[in-house]
Order: sequence, then C-alpha cells, then structure tokens
Amino acid sequence: MEIRYFENREELYKAASKHFEEAVANGARTFGLATGGTMEPLYENLRNSDVDFSQCTSFNLDEYAGIPKESEHSYYTYMHEQLFNTKPFSKSFVPVGDVEDLTAAAREYENMLKANERDIQLLGVGENGHIAFNEPGTSFDSETHVIELTPSTREANARYFASLDEVPTHAVTMGIASILHAKEIILIACGENKRDAMQALVEGDVTVEVPVSVLNNHPNVVIYTDLQLKVAVK
Ligand code: F6R
Repeated sequence: MEIRYFENREELYKAASKHFEEAVANGARTFGLATGGTMEPLYENLRNSDVDFSQCTSFNLDEYAGIPKESEHSYYTYMHEQLFNTKPFSKSFVPVGDVEDLTAAAREYENMLKANERDIQLLGVGENGHIAFNEPGTSFDSETHVIELTPSTREANARYFASLDEVPTHAVTMGIASILHAKEIILIACGENKRDAMQALVEGDVTVEVPVSVLNNHPNVVIYTDLQLKVAVK
C-alpha cells in the first residue's frame, strides 16, 4: 500500500488525474469508477485534460435502488455530467437500480466484471469505512449485490436530495470481492470526516467492521490523501 500525502488538494487532484492519464497512455483499458463529492475535482481535471478514453471500458461501483437512470439523482446521470458527456468511453456500465429483479441484474453485472478484468479501480471511502456501498459487516467474499444503506450513509448523502426521506434505503453495489479483483486500486480520501476510517485502514487491522481495511489484503493500492495518518510500527 502506497500512501501519497498532499497538503494541497489541488496538487493531490492533479497527481491523481495524471495517474489516470499515464495509465491510459501505458495501455490501461478497463476502469472501475466511483461517484461522490471526492471524485468531482478528479473528473473536472480529466474533463480538462487530453486523456482519451474512447478505447476504454468503464464499470461503476454502485447505483441507488429504485432510482431510474434518467433521474437527476442517479449515478448514471452523475457519471454522464461529470465525465462521460465530455470524455466518452467505448462502453460504460453503471449498475441498473430500477429493474424488478435487482438480484438477477446484480448477478449479471458481476459476470460482466469477471469477463472484463479492471486495470484500475477507483475508490472513495465513507465516514463509516464503507467502500462502494459495502457497509460495515459486509462479507469480504461478497460479489455485486443489493444492500440496505445505513442511517449514517443516508444522512451523508442527503445533501444531494430535497430531504432525508427521499434518500433511497437500498443500493446495488459491487461487492468487496468484486472490488479486490482489480489489478490496481486507487483510493482518494480527503477531509477530516474521513480520518477515522483512514486511520483504521493504515493501522492494518483487517476487519469487516471497517470495510476499507480490506485494502490491506490487496497487493497494489495507491492512496491519495490530504490526511497525515499515523502509520503503526509493527
Ligand atoms: C460512490 C461510492 C461511495 C463513496 C463514499 C464517499 O460510488 O462508492 O463509497 O465513495 O460514500 O463519498 P463522498 O466522496 O461523497 O464523501
């Protein structure tokens, strides 16, 4: 696990964007993408860069259950606004949240992931340590599945909705095993509200109670953070 610490967020996002641009230049073609506030400056840099994703495929981490893709709240819409409208990929997949049989759709999504190894998986982290929407307690063996969002995650995401009641209660998400199948993982974590989760990650105790801690089990993780973390000497 490599930690790239930046005092200055602008520098952090410049470096993270460069990481993607160089990966494409060096032949990376399949990407796992994330949504959320953390990713917005990265996508802004990529929109303004020369990067060309037209030969690339992307798979998004997650989508709210019950929200049609056309909704302003869907991650499908977020991705189009943030990246795909400006930098189209050859193919982009976002889990579908409003089909009748979500479990079957999740299984199909997992099959596509298995058939398309990701060169890079981009991740953010929730205040409670979730990755994608894998909330504390999710099995490390989990594949793409439907999950109930915790009250804290719904509250954290309520800023995008008119009221807390409108925040979906469930989501479809890549599982932890699905995430770990990527060749390289880039995690971006900015802001004091992410400190507890990130500190738990670098302490190295791997526990389902802090899903992000599972990244200790992956051989190729790069972290971009503006948090100075105390790395335990073992
Ligand atoms: C989004 C996702 C989530 C977010 C996390 C942090 O696709 O997978 O795990 O990365 O909730 O969200 P922000 O960046 O809004 O703090």
